[in-house]
Amino acid sequence: MNVWRSYSDKSLFSSLLCSCVSQRSVDSKALQERQKQIMAKGLPKQKPIAGVKQVIVVASGKGGVGKSTTAVNLALGLMANDSSKSVGLLDADVYGPSIPKLMNLKGNPELSDNNLMVPLTNYGIPCMSMGFLVEDVAPIVWRGLMVMSAIEKLLRQVDWGSLDYLVVDMPPGTGDVQLSITQNIPIAGAVIVSTPQDIALLDARRGAEMFKKVHVPVLGLVQNMSVFQCPNCRHQTHIFGSDGARQLADTLGVRLLGDVPLHLNIRETSDRGQPVVVSSPDSPEAEAYRKVASAVVQRLQEVNT
Ligand SMILES: Nc1ncnc2c1ncn2[C@@H]1O[C@H](COP(=O)(O)OP(=O)(O)OP(=O)(O)O)[C@@H](O)[C@H]1O
Ligand SMILES: [Mg+2]
Repeated sequence: MNVWRSYSDKSLFSSLLCSCVSQRSVDSKALQERQKQIMAKGLPKQKPIAGVKQVIVVASGKGGVGKSTTAVNLALGLMANDSSKSVGLLDADVYGPSIPKLMNLKGNPELSDNNLMVPLTNYGIPCMSMGFLVEDVAPIVWRGLMVMSAIEKLLRQVDWGSLDYLVVDMPPGTGDVQLSITQNIPIAGAVIVSTPQDIALLDARRGAEMFKKVHVPVLGLVQNMSVFQCPNCRHQTHIFGSDGARQLADTLGVRLLGDVPLHLNIRETSDRGQPVVVSSPDSPEAEAYRKVASAVVQRLQEVNT
């Protein structure tokens, strides 16, 4: 305040103001430049995972809608449709890993010669999960930074060999894990899973919009548990509504990749660690997952041309 009062001469004041303004614009340009540099440093550079051609993430804003079940059966479906393709499975749910149980795998990964973790394999699918690195019942209580460093380990310190597809099972939500993965590696596409229920669709929409925002192509939606058929009388019931995901796909302008029924066989085979695509390959449920897998491959070709 005092400084300004002392400049009574108008011309001196205006020339000072001019130089002050131009100095300020130089300063603000320098500041912007500096901010850009800091931002660029702060965001990790996207780097492909060695040996992996395409990464497909399976996600949804909501918990318990069938992401892990879909991810497992999608990975197996991709291989069942084309046995020449190699497929891996990464469990990015560091808080509540499901892949060890769903793929019937247990144990600690060995280290390769170059000190990378060797995935555990079942049904021809190499898998990596935080569940292989911590005790079964140990609570995983982590803060943001620890989560990021765990994710980075799972992305960078695994020897996948050579894979055509790496399917990533995401935790629910649109938080640190999702951001960390989208910032670290190039993702070929996202598959969003939802039940046809309004509340799940709302979260699924959030999930899809998040991927769009970070420029990950949304391959489409999988409508899970849309119809239940009574095993005795064959009557069909739409427990969570009938067509919600189809409508959401239309609204978002993305494909409906498939419709997976609510079926006891899916739940039981998952719990046994014998996913339906390998344990009942002739069932309509397995067929539904294989259809999702071929729709995913078709969409990957579309978005990459
Ligand atoms: N189509 C289906 N028919 C029958 N049961 C299903 C189906 N899809 C998933 N389930 C069952 O629903 C439960 C939740 O599925 P899952 O663990 O795949 O969901 P999620 O979205 O990965 O959950 P979370 O958000 O906790 O990771 C599991 O018991 C699974 O077996
Ligand atoms: Mg899960």
